Amino acid sequence: MICYFSGTGNSRWVAKTVSARFADSRLVDMADAVVSGNSLSFNLSEGEQLGFVFPVHSWGIPWIVRRFIKKMTVNNYYSNLIYCILTCGDDSGLTNRMLQKLFRSKGWQCRHIYSVQMPNTYVVFPGFDADPVELEQKKKAEAVPTLNKIMAAIESDSPIDCYLQKGQQFLKSRIIYPLFCKFKMSSKPFYYTNKCIGCGICVKNCPTHNIRLENDRPVWGDCCTQCLSCLHRCPQTAIEYGKQSIGKRRYYYGKRDK
Ligand SMILES: Cc1cc2nc3c(=O)[nH]c(=O)nc-3n(C[C@H](O)[C@H](O)[C@H](O)COP(=O)(O)O)c2cc1C
Repeated sequence: MICYFSGTGNSRWVAKTVSARFADSRLVDMADAVVSGNSLSFNLSEGEQLGFVFPVHSWGIPWIVRRFIKKMTVNNYYSNLIYCILTCGDDSGLTNRMLQKLFRSKGWQCRHIYSVQMPNTYVVFPGFDADPVELEQKKKAEAVPTLNKIMAAIESDSPIDCYLQKGQQFLKSRIIYPLFCKFKMSSKPFYYTNKCIGCGICVKNCPTHNIRLENDRPVWGDCCTQCLSCLHRCPQTAIEYGKQSIGKRRYYYGKRDK
């Protein structure tokens, strides 16, 4: 079973690639499972692996993923192999340690935590932008052999060193990450411009079902994870986030909705 969360498609691509290679790997959309109130109780068959695939947010675990893992129960866990593949722009911080702590609290063991560098999607802070097209393509091309290495390591249950980490980890993951979770989850800064045509693509693609249309225009609720799916996937580039996103690049992995 592969539990995944993705705002802009990178982690979805990883989850689907892994699922295509590993037999018996059904996909579970973590955000949908949490917000839809579906049962978070799962049965694993003997020898079935339990995978988690999701993006790094502010050098940590997106809250929706944390909530899913905290609440989920696995009825017949018997030392099934657990693995995590994170996607990030360039630095996963101490997300691996946060995951280990979370797994320990559930009595689970995980020896495979990896990260794959993918195009960056964080554009709503001064100095941050999506990658230029050449870098975006380079990262996507290099992710293929990296992911192959990771999948081989998981298949043979032989952990490898494949985790992206840069400096100042304590500051990023222990100080900025909690502040990000506390103060940056509001959807209030999102708004639509006069380019909005009311197509509803933002509504359809919001992983937490946090957007609805009123008079053919998007209205954001209060269950935002800051994945920026709405902003990046709007075909009219009609969605902005305060002043921070104006003039910044948009990015989405996969075919765009028209
Ligand atoms: C809110 C937010 C925070 C992010 N924080 C980080 C980060 O701390 N380190 C990093 O390398 N990339 C960061 N990124 C980039 C994403 O982790 C990366 O682009 C990821 O592959 C996006 O996955 P997705 O397309 O499945 O949503 C962030 C992106 C968002 C939207």
